[in-house]
Amino acid sequence: MAKYIINGGSALNGQFFVQGAKNAVLPLFAGALLTEEEDVIQNCPDLLDVDNMARILRSLGADVERHGNSVKIGGTLSSHEIPYGLAKELRSSIFLLGSVLARLKKAKVAYPGGCDIGLRPINIHLDAFRELGVKIEEYYGYIYCDATAMQGAPINFDYPSVGATENVMLLAATARGLTTISNAAREPEIEGLQDYLNLMGAKITGAGTPFITIEGVDSLHGAEYTTIPDRIVAGTYLMAGAICGGEIEVLGAKPSHLHALLSKLSKSGCKIKVNNDNIYLRSDKRIMPFDRVETQPYPGFPTDLQAPLCALASVANGNSMIIENIFETRFKHIPELIKMGAQIIVSGSVACIRGVEQLRGAEITAMDLRGGAALVLAGLNAKGTTIVNDVHHVERGYQNFEATLCSLGADIVKV
Ligand code: EPU
Repeated sequence: MAKYIINGGSALNGQFFVQGAKNAVLPLFAGALLTEEEDVIQNCPDLLDVDNMARILRSLGADVERHGNSVKIGGTLSSHEIPYGLAKELRSSIFLLGSVLARLKKAKVAYPGGCDIGLRPINIHLDAFRELGVKIEEYYGYIYCDATAMQGAPINFDYPSVGATENVMLLAATARGLTTISNAAREPEIEGLQDYLNLMGAKITGAGTPFITIEGVDSLHGAEYTTIPDRIVAGTYLMAGAICGGEIEVLGAKPSHLHALLSKLSKSGCKIKVNNDNIYLRSDKRIMPFDRVETQPYPGFPTDLQAPLCALASVANGNSMIIENIFETRFKHIPELIKMGAQIIVSGSVACIRGVEQLRGAEITAMDLRGGAALVLAGLNAKGTTIVNDVHHVERGYQNFEATLCSLGADIVKV
C-alpha cells in the first residue's frame, strides 16, 4: 500500500487551480445513463472513485471514454445489475439505482460500500422510491427493484440526505407526473445535478432550497456540462495554508460554497480575500482556536471538512470544541493525531482539543478519505518526519495531492 513521507515545517506559498468536485461528478455519471445519447462531462477529476464509477457504468453496458478532464458517456444499457464487487468499492453506486430503474424499470444492486465513517443506511432512498411506486425486495445483501408502476409523488424527507435527494431527482426526472421533495438537501452538488439534468431536457426547479419540484418528462437527451469546483478540496488546501503558514491562492473555486469555513478561518486570524472565483489565504502566526464548530447539512459547516479542521485546531493557540453531527464514526483520525502529540479528548460526538505549539512526526495510518487528508495536514505542520500509510483512501478524493502540495513548497513524497 502506498504511503506519504512528509518532512514537516515548510510554509506553503503559491497558487493552483482546484479540481472538479468528486461529489458532484458521481451523480452526473449516474445522470448520463438516463439517455442513450452521448453526454460530455467537463472538468471531471481524475480519481479512484471516478474510475470505479466508470467501471460500474461499463459493466452496465455504457461506453465511457476519458480524454484528459473530459469524459464522454453514452450507449445502450445491457444490464440492470450492479455487481457486488464494484458496489462495495463505492458508496455512490447507490445513485445508479435511480438511473437504472428510470431506464430499464428494474434494477438489482448490492448494498453500497465506501468510507467507513458510520452506519450509512439507505432507508431514506428506499422509502422515497416506494413513495414513487417502486416495488422493493431485499435479500442476500441485494436490493431488487421494479419500477413498472412508477409515477411522480410528493416526498418528505425526515432528514435532508444528499444522496437520497440526488437519487430521487434521477428517478423522477422521467417519471410520469409531478414529484416534489420537501426537506431536500441544499448542497451545491445538488444544484449541479439539477443544472445538468435540465440541460438534458429535465424540468427541475428549487435545487439549493429545501423544496425541489420535478416535472417528469418523457425522455432526456445528451448534453455537455462542466462540473462545479470541489469545495471540500479547496477547503482542505486553505487549511493546509493555515496550518503551515504562508500565502496561498485557490483559483477557480466558488467562495460562496465555502462560507462556513471562510468565516471560521477569518475569525481564527487568517487573512482571507475573495476575488471572483479565487480565494487567497495568508497565515503568518499561530491561529486562534475555534470556540465551537458543529457539522451540519449545507450551508452549515461540512462534515467533510471536520477532520482537517481537527488537525488545524490541534495547533491553535487555545482550546477548541468540534462536534460531529452527521456521521457516527468520523473521528478515526483523532487517535492518529494524538500519536503526533495532539491533545484531544473525545466523548461521543464531541472532540475537545487543546492546541499545542507544533505537532511531532510519527508513523500513522489513513483510515478514510478526509481523515487521511487531515493526517497529511498534520504531517506538514509537524517537526520531523511523518509517514502516512494507506494513502489510497486520500487518493479517492484528492487529485495529485502530494504533487500540488510540493508545488506550494511542501516536502512530501509518495512511495
Ligand atoms: N442517512 C440515513 N439514511 C439514508 C441516507 C442517509 O440515515 O438513507 C444518514 C447517513 O447515515 C448520515 C446522514 O444521513 O448519517 C447524511 O448522509 P447523506 O445521505 O446526506 O450523505 P451521502 O449522500 O451518503 C454525501 C457525500 C459525503 C458527505 C455527505 C454529507 C457523496 C458521494 N458523498 O454522502 O461525502 O460527507 O454527503 O455531506 O456525495 C466524502 O466526500 O468524503 C463524503 C463522505
